[in-house]
Formats: sequence, structure tokens, C-alpha cells
Amino acid sequence: MPIRACVFDAYGTLFDVAAAARNAASEPGGEALAEVWPKLAETWRLKQLEYSWLRAVADDYIPFWQVTQDGLDYALELHGLSDAGLRETLLGLYQRLDAYPEVPAVLRDLKDAGLATAILSNGSKDMLGAAIDSAGIGDVLDASISVEDVGVFKPHDRVYALAEEQMGVKGAEIAFFSSNCWDATHAARYGFTTIWVNRAGAPLDRVGKAPARMVDSLDGCAALVAGLS
Ligand code: LAC
Repeated sequence: MPIRACVFDAYGTLFDVAAAARNAASEPGGEALAEVWPKLAETWRLKQLEYSWLRAVADDYIPFWQVTQDGLDYALELHGLSDAGLRETLLGLYQRLDAYPEVPAVLRDLKDAGLATAILSNGSKDMLGAAIDSAGIGDVLDASISVEDVGVFKPHDRVYALAEEQMGVKGAEIAFFSSNCWDATHAARYGFTTIWVNRAGAPLDRVGKAPARMVDSLDGCAALVAGLS
């Protein structure tokens, strides 16, 4: 089946979620983070995701920006770092996360190959807009699709259906890329042609359906998509 659209998860796939804590550690006043930033980043991400899943199950949607702050507050307290100034710094950096280095060229190659490109993310629209602007990738994306429009988080089927509706492309004709294995396996279960961007070299999650392909970064993904068609 020909691939007609390439849809990307945002956080962890296009944008490096650890960059906020890593960059805060090297800013003036960030000395307290020097040793602990990887653990802080990990707890922050895990709690952000856990809260999104709990809210999806409980039908208790709030914007992902608030979920992100709730996860950060838990992580700061756990690691003994609760401090209003540090919190503000980390949230500011989260709004302009680094994109992974290969991202702009891969999106450009896909567009040059005539494919539609989009983000499909839990992120609130304003969060996604800020991240896209700061990474300078707005001109190589046809759409930025937020779960805000369906009021539930991934991996609910309504989220994947939203991508189909907004792209005008169905099921296996969408190549869906995510570094979050659970997102990739549920997109595969939904019916997308799914590529797990296994940046961390993690084992396969035992839930959902196995992705069609696994890669360790987005490098070379335009050729991979051409091979899928
Ligand atoms: C997203 C999260 C899951 O961007 O990374 O949807």
C-alpha cells in the first residue's frame, strides 16, 4: 500500500525532552542540577506520561501543558529541588526544546518526495507552536495536530482517528513515527504503518501490536518510507 502521509509524534521523537533539564544545568544558577538532571528529566517524563494515561482512563482531560507542570512539580519534589525560579527556568526551556539534529533534513526529504508531513501529539496547540517555531521546522510540516481537538490523550483510538480526518489519509497509508514504543504499538494496532524510533535501545513493549519497522533515529527515514510504498 502506498504511503501518502508521514505523521510524527512530537516529544521524544522530533523534540529532545531531556534538553530542558540538561540545558538548565548549564545555565547560571543551575549548579544544583549538575549531577541530578538526568534523573530529574526521567522522572518528569515518566510522571507526565503516567498522568496523561490516568487522565485518559478516567476521562479527566486537561491540557498537556498543565500535565507537564504537574509532572515537573512531582519530579522537583522527589529530587529535593522544589524552587520557583528553577521551575520557571525548566518550563521556559521546555517550550523551546532542541529538535534532534536530523529532523529538519528528514522532513524536507519527505516533502521533496511529495509526501504530506504532520505532527500528532498530546501537546497543547500553543506548546506545539512554540516548539515548531523554535526548531524552525514550520515550513516542512503540513499540519500540527493536537489531541486538544478530541480531549483525550494517546493511545486512545480517537487520537489516531483525528490524524486520518485532518490529513484525509486512512490507515496503512499513514507512516507513523514515534520514539515512544507504547505510542508506536497502539498506532500499529489502530492500523497505521508504524516505525518505532527506538532512540534509547529499549525492549519492545508488551502491549498493542508490533511496529512494522524499528530504527534508532530518523536518519534515512525518507528512503525507508520509499521502500514501504
Ligand atoms: C506526544 C508525546 C506522547 O508528543 O510524546 O504526543
